[in-house]
Amino acid sequence: MTDKKNQVSRRQFLNYTLTGVGGFMGAAMIAPMVGFAVDPLLKGEKETDFVYVMDVDEITNEPQRKTFSTDQVDGWYESQAEHTAWIFRTEEDEILALSPVCTHLGCVVDWNSNEEYPDQFYCPCHDGRYNKLGENLPNTPPTEPLHAYEYRIEDGKLLLGKAKSRKGA
Ligand code: FES
Repeated sequence: MTDKKNQVSRRQFLNYTLTGVGGFMGAAMIAPMVGFAVDPLLKGEKETDFVYVMDVDEITNEPQRKTFSTDQVDGWYESQAEHTAWIFRTEEDEILALSPVCTHLGCVVDWNSNEEYPDQFYCPCHDGRYNKLGENLPNTPPTEPLHAYEYRIEDGKLLLGKAKSRKGA
């Protein structure tokens, strides 16, 4: 003897089947669109890695101010980010490319601009001072050295990457 209450009618079977197939097809169509829309957000901010700034044989012992720009992608928004670096060779003949952004509150430092403090990076906002290597001087507001750009040399050209903190380095 069969229990009719537990049987699935032809109409119910068709409903379940069509709903399942329809749902599957709908998901298959929508998933790529959602992925396309959300993907840039998941990738977040991206900047071009290393960019040409100057020829290596132009680098002297005196800090030179160089500006350069990088492509910046933030979600769907693409723009150019402008950067500045103070570039020179140290006494040890190493290349140093310093960020001009004061590590106190973000003003812009200048090299050798204050007659009272020759051969120093000087921040006019709160009298912040750094020596030539970008190390913050005691008893001035900054609490860490100027950040230094990562760099590469390729075919005699200096390429700069991101400016990194040297705190504790
Ligand atoms: S922002 Fe440079 S000393 Fe304050």
